[in-house]
Amino acid sequence: MKENDIQRLLLWYEKNKRDLPWRHTKDAYKIWVSETMLQQTRVDTVVPYYERFLKKLPTLKDLAMIPEEELLKLWEGLGYYSRARNLQKAAKILCAEKFDFLPPDKFLLEQLPGIGPYTVGAILSIAYEIEEPAIDGNVLRVLSRVYEESEDILSSKVRKKYTEILRGLMKGASPNLFTQSFIELGALVCTKTPDCPNCPLNNCCKAYKHQTVLSYPKKKLKKEKPVFLKTVFLFQYKNTFMIHKRQENGLLANLYEFPNWESFLTLEEVYNILAQKKIFYKNVTFLGEVTHVFSHQKWHLKVYKILLEEPIFHDFLLQERKF
Ligand code: ADE
Repeated sequence: MKENDIQRLLLWYEKNKRDLPWRHTKDAYKIWVSETMLQQTRVDTVVPYYERFLKKLPTLKDLAMIPEEELLKLWEGLGYYSRARNLQKAAKILCAEKFDFLPPDKFLLEQLPGIGPYTVGAILSIAYEIEEPAIDGNVLRVLSRVYEESEDILSSKVRKKYTEILRGLMKGASPNLFTQSFIELGALVCTKTPDCPNCPLNNCCKAYKHQTVLSYPKKKLKKEKPVFLKTVFLFQYKNTFMIHKRQENGLLANLYEFPNWESFLTLEEVYNILAQKKIFYKNVTFLGEVTHVFSHQKWHLKVYKILLEEPIFHDFLLQERKF
């Protein structure tokens, strides 16, 4: 890739970029929130969350001060809740150090919880126009094709190599436009089903030249995720459903969920448990099975609805839980 390839990419970006709310600000706090939400979540999903989050928490100080329960409520549905907790931890650290904004300081940003090299690069380049590359999955996909990268793109060696290549290519361009144009190309053109004829980098792309685009990026085979079987109880009394709060540590810490059991239960086993626990119900209905996929595990859930005769006020499953 050379300077004129970058010029073509920037022109393409000017013409084709999506109108996204975080592209109307240079406020590093807002850019940070958007980039954190965009990790592992699609742009379309993020937009309404981003707007609601910043309406409620327009400044770093607001984020540091909000009770955790309210913060998690704002995040509800986005998943990966440690992202929200880390945002707040980092905001508290900055406020304790008397910062009321995110400083343009690479060393300081790198120390904050939840902020890795991608987020540092995104904040510095997009908000502060500092020449620091930001390499996410989108950018790696583009680079792996342009250079026909034969190594695992998730290795730190490959990341380092491309950080230096991008650092060189960034010189002379606006770091903001440079970073966003690579991300946008990866999101709109250089995708799983790439639109190579309309790509501004097609004349410097080795994979396009050799018609090997679909063989890139190369990734090491991922380990299969462990699968957990569970049974979920929707206890209904009139028009209310019972929920309980998970424990303070570990996966989905402190969040609310429907009571559940750590195995698949047959209808007969459900009846037995309800009898043992002296729960008075009108009827039990099997609603079906659902799968929920996390980054590192999968839950297969069997769901029963139990229409109650009388409300339950104790968390009767809690003693049974091993985690
Ligand atoms: N994905 C990650 N960062 C993004 C950004 N700034 N704009 C659009 N998609 C993104």
